[in-house]
Amino acid sequence: MNVQVPQFLRSDATDMAGLGTSPIPAEPYYRPEFFELEREAIFRRTWLQIGHVSELPRPGTFIVRPVEVANASVLLTRGRDGAIRAFHNVCTHRGTQLVSEAEGARTSFTCPYHAWTFGNDGELRAAPDAERFYVDTADCALKKIAVDVCAGLIFINLAPSPKESLREFLGEMAEQLEALPVAKATTFSEYVYDIDANWKLTYDNFQENYHLRVVHPDTSGAGIGPDNPFGYPLSFGFFGPHRSQTIWLNPAATVEPIQGMAYGKLAEFAVGEGLGGLPANPAYLALFPNFFMLGSIGTPFSHTVMPISATRSRGVIRFYWVGDDDSASKRFAREYSTAAGVDIHSEDRAIIEAGQQGLNSGALKHIHFQEQEVLLRHFFQTVMDHVDAYRATLSDPS
Ligand code: FES
Ligand SMILES: [Fe+2]
Repeated sequence: MNVQVPQFLRSDATDMAGLGTSPIPAEPYYRPEFFELEREAIFRRTWLQIGHVSELPRPGTFIVRPVEVANASVLLTRGRDGAIRAFHNVCTHRGTQLVSEAEGARTSFTCPYHAWTFGNDGELRAAPDAERFYVDTADCALKKIAVDVCAGLIFINLAPSPKESLREFLGEMAEQLEALPVAKATTFSEYVYDIDANWKLTYDNFQENYHLRVVHPDTSGAGIGPDNPFGYPLSFGFFGPHRSQTIWLNPAATVEPIQGMAYGKLAEFAVGEGLGGLPANPAYLALFPNFFMLGSIGTPFSHTVMPISATRSRGVIRFYWVGDDDSASKRFAREYSTAAGVDIHSEDRAIIEAGQQGLNSGALKHIHFQEQEVLLRHFFQTVMDHVDAYRATLSDPS
């Protein structure tokens, strides 16, 4: 469902998406008990964005990624057949973590404890003194994790048998993602941060423009203007658990000469990279539970918020690029765009942590989302739907 925002300056508040107007309970943003429910109801059974195909550029390459919320470490490999596979990074002899490097190129992995050796297809290839075991080595392969790719983005699902495929889960969002620069990307710039805040609070900061003029008076740039002082988007979209917005840009915004040069260069390069057809107003695509992507040519970035505990998270921000930065001007433009993004983010971080500190006190029973924070309301409702469905399975004796 797409909802056009009717006009920027008006005095009424409507329920544009039919999600209701009630206050939102505060406890899900800080209570460890609620985080435990989210761990099971969402993160152990939903498709999660974990990487990009450019991290496994050729057969024999591998990466290892922690997923703290599931107490998991995930080994992703690219086999001789070109296929990407995912496994629990756990030796099947006695559970030792198999691979300690974050990335590399190796077609077999030897456990540091008793030297069981596994191929990058997960099969157990060799075990010292194997004939003394009471188990067939064919039954000792690494534990598989469901994995699939859309628009170059790698997703995993930690459920032993996911209830839907990645395509089914993404629905219409798959095509929208495939139209973005990330689908053609061959490299990226990355910025990783830890934050003392709940994953939803951290994520919500990037779903609303209400804070722009307060937190980013100097850097919010074209996102607000006299005609649209709160930066209302042009439209919102709701697609099952996922959502989107079309960002408004102030056509009269002035930019610093250096900014104009960087973003002008990126637009120029984009044409040569086959990315010239993107709309002027960037699409913001938010995938449940913890990923969003901004599909603009100047700032083609994704953000994944990994929960660590009820009040701590890790954010991974990536700017995706097509081809190497093989000229000084391309390198400058990419570096500028990345640095500008990190600058803006650094203004958000302290205020998100301040929000968490306030919520941790338990002083508030409820928080409030206004009309233009409807993406936050949709996100919260989707989390609650998952948690309620999971709770129902716990109380159902069948
Ligand atoms: S725990 Fe891995 S070989 Fe023993
Ligand atoms: Fe912000």
